[in-house]
Formats: sequence, structure tokens, C-alpha cells
Amino acid sequence: MIGSYQLYPSDCIEGAHKYIADNSVDLIITDPPYGIEANKLHRHYHRHEEKVINGYVEIPREKYPSFSNKWIKEAERILRPGGSLYVISGYSNLADILNALQKTDMEEKNHIIWKYNFGVHTQKKYISSHYHILYYTKPGAKVTFNTYTRFGPAEKDNENGSLNYQDREDVWIINREYKTGEIRNKNELPTKLIIKIMQYSSMEGDLVVDFFLGGFSTAKVAIGLNRKIIGFEVNKRSYDHHIKEIEILKPGYLIPNLRESNGKVPVNQRKRWSEPERKKLKKRFLEIYKKIKHKRETIRILEKEFGRGYFSILNQIERMDNPIGD
Ligand SMILES: C[S@@+](CC[C@H](N)C(=O)[O-])C[C@H]1O[C@@H](n2cnc3c(N)ncnc32)[C@H](O)[C@@H]1O
Repeated sequence: MIGSYQLYPSDCIEGAHKYIADNSVDLIITDPPYGIEANKLHRHYHRHEEKVINGYVEIPREKYPSFSNKWIKEAERILRPGGSLYVISGYSNLADILNALQKTDMEEKNHIIWKYNFGVHTQKKYISSHYHILYYTKPGAKVTFNTYTRFGPAEKDNENGSLNYQDREDVWIINREYKTGEIRNKNELPTKLIIKIMQYSSMEGDLVVDFFLGGFSTAKVAIGLNRKIIGFEVNKRSYDHHIKEIEILKPGYLIPNLRESNGKVPVNQRKRWSEPERKKLKKRFLEIYKKIKHKRETIRILEKEFGRGYFSILNQIERMDNPIGD
């Protein structure tokens, strides 16, 4: 059922083994424990702990490599061919996670840098204010990647930059949520970040899995976007607190607030340029450019006339024999 959930107060490796069939999951988004004594993280972040739920379960450093191998192997097993995996990781144990991923048959798509606010405060070196998001897919079938779900190909910012291009760059600047007064888990992921991943890499009704629920942020977004969710949290105190928040959520509650993309794809996108079309482009480019003397604006006009994207036209013009003589 759309927006349905199965969330278990159990270890993720045992839980996945017991409850999730092979090749059945469309998307995994997960944020494993850091293996750096998260119980002391507040010292770095200069924050008050009285509102933070106790009992974050850490993985001892020496067990981190084998622990990563085990849960990542399980992730590969449950992912359907063409399914996607996003692992969010700090720097300290990143090498172990990368090693574990390299032992699988999954393919690396992107290594995304997530830059956030409230970085780890330091005096005598640079302030650490980013995480790594490792985006992998399981080969064997078509991967869901909804290129224009958030910004259409022709949508621009005030300086005429492509919003779609900017949104799909592999450095994401997304602030953490500052939840004053609310009871929360350690290091909850921002809702905006999870929405972004789910929009690009899943469809309504798809099954999403989170191995390490923490504050249940993935589960909340999955329900809010009409995805199904299965997840695990071994900290019973955290589980008991957050499951109550889940029970009152309405499936699809986030959808009315999503930005509507103008996802129109240029009519001739991906069609080969014919010789007559190239000649016509050159003629029209020179006519318009002579009048407005602005290359980018000229291309914008030609985008509509030729039903092609900006870069496709730019590419053709750059191949022409110095059409504007610069
Ligand atoms: C980094 S936090 C996840 C934060 C979460 N993404 C959020 O947005 O709130 C990692 C969580 O994994 C839990 N955990 C540790 N070992 C686990 C295991 N073997 N199975 C399930 N959960 C585990 C920890 O208690 C902690 O809450």
C-alpha cells in the first residue's frame, strides 16, 4: 500500500535477512553510525544534549570494516536490478565504506559532497562542514533517475543559469534543521536532502529501505511522498519515541508543498542535426545576433525556434566557422 511502513526495533542485518526478499527494493537511503563515539559528538558541535535521545548505538572502530561489509552485502542482496543506494558518511570511516562497496557488483554513479552548516568547530585547522553521499546502483535493469522532476530543462535563475544543471551538480548545500526545544535523535538528516534523493531516484509507490533509522527522517519523508518504507533502529528508546511520530503522519503530506517542475523537454532533443537544419541555424544565429549583440540571449531565442536545448545549439555554433567573427 502507498505510504505504508514496516519499521522494526531491531538490528538491521538480522532484520533485512528476516523481512526483506532478494531483489525487491527500489531505493536504499541510509546513514550508518560513524564509528567515532557519537555519544561525544555534541562537544564538537557545541550543542546542548538534554533534548537528544540517549542510547545512540555505536560500532567500535575495530569492528567497523566487517560491520560495513555485512550490511552493504545485505543492501546489495535486497536491491532490485536497477535499484539505487545512497550511503551518507562522514570522513573518518569513509574508506571502510568505500572498500565494502567495491567488494560488491554495484556501480558507482556519483560521489556527492553535502555541505552543511554548524560544522565541527576547530581553531588550528579548517572547519569540517561536509559529508559524503555515495550513490551506487545495482546493474541489470533500467535505473530510475527522474532528470526533470524538480527543475525543467528550460528553467533559469535570474542570471540565466540553468536551475536543472545547478540542482544536479554533485556538491549540495543543504542546511541542517535547527530544532529548538524538540526531542530529536543525534545527527538527523535534513528533510530537504532526503526529498531530493527520493524525487530523483524513486517513484510514488516504490519501496524504500533505511538500515539505520535514527530519528526516522527517511521514514517520515517516504510516507510524505507516498513511498513504502521498511527500516530498522536498534536503539529501543529512539524507536519508541519516533514510532509515535510516524503513526500520526498522513501518506502524501509533503506532496502539496513540492515545487512544480516545468519538465518540458525540447521537442527535438536527442534528434540528430540534419545539414539543412544546421544551415538554417547559422543563418538565424547571424540575423538575430546582429540585432541584439548578445550570444547567450541569441541562443535562448533559438532554443524555442529549433526545439533544442541550450547546449545542443551552443555546440553547433561553436563548430561553425567563426560565425560572429570573435
Ligand atoms: C547516524 S544515525 C542515523 C540518523 C538518521 N539517518 C536520521 O536522520 O535521524 C545511525 C543510527 O543507527 C543506529 N544503529 C546502530 N547500529 C545499528 C544496527 N546494527 N541496526 C540498526 N540500527 C543501528 C544508531 O542507534 C543510530 O540511531
